[in-house]
Amino acid sequence: MTSEFIHRFVPAKGQGAPSLLLLHGTGGDENDLLQLGAMVSPNSALLSPRGRVIENGMPRFFRRLAEGVFDEDDVRGRALELADFVEAERRRYGIGRPIALGYSNGANVAAALMLLRPDTLAGAALLRAMVPLSEPPRPDLSGVRVLVASGMADPIVPPSNSTRLAAMLRATGANVSHETLPVGHQLSRADLDLAREWLRTVDAREPVAER
Ligand code: MLT
Repeated sequence: MTSEFIHRFVPAKGQGAPSLLLLHGTGGDENDLLQLGAMVSPNSALLSPRGRVIENGMPRFFRRLAEGVFDEDDVRGRALELADFVEAERRRYGIGRPIALGYSNGANVAAALMLLRPDTLAGAALLRAMVPLSEPPRPDLSGVRVLVASGMADPIVPPSNSTRLAAMLRATGANVSHETLPVGHQLSRADLDLAREWLRTVDAREPVAER
């Protein structure tokens, strides 16, 4: 499979900030999260691909059979394609292992990517994520920092599902913060503040190391 994705790349504006891999939600594209990424971490390099699956004209990162019901073979294949893309673009642009900042479908593929190719990401902020695989592998993600930001009134992701995702990631040794915001599925100002604060603590506690 080819690892080419239409994407945007924004070089780092300063030193020391981790690169961010921006992963949009269903119907978004490579431009969607650039502003959020720049607000969350102004000095970071931003790598932002467009999902290659099209559902009724809307880009996504993997196929689904219905709302919240995923084609898991496709999830696995597409997550590995995305991992190959990240590795190729890291070499091309000379950036470090990125932290994913993913929303909805983009957060779901980021979670799958961490489970299937654990060396690709340095961490992940998963905004409105759900369990991407019913029988996930259990890689060693010891010490990898993950933020799961759920919406209390999210009609798409039930609280039990995001709690299960957090537990699944904790079982790999990842250092998971699970926060529930008083919002629905849409992104809010609270997500920006939360992601920014979380990234600050990731930076302070654990400068992004090459594993
Ligand atoms: C998904 O399909 O990944 C989730 O249901 C979220 C969405 O994209 O609506």
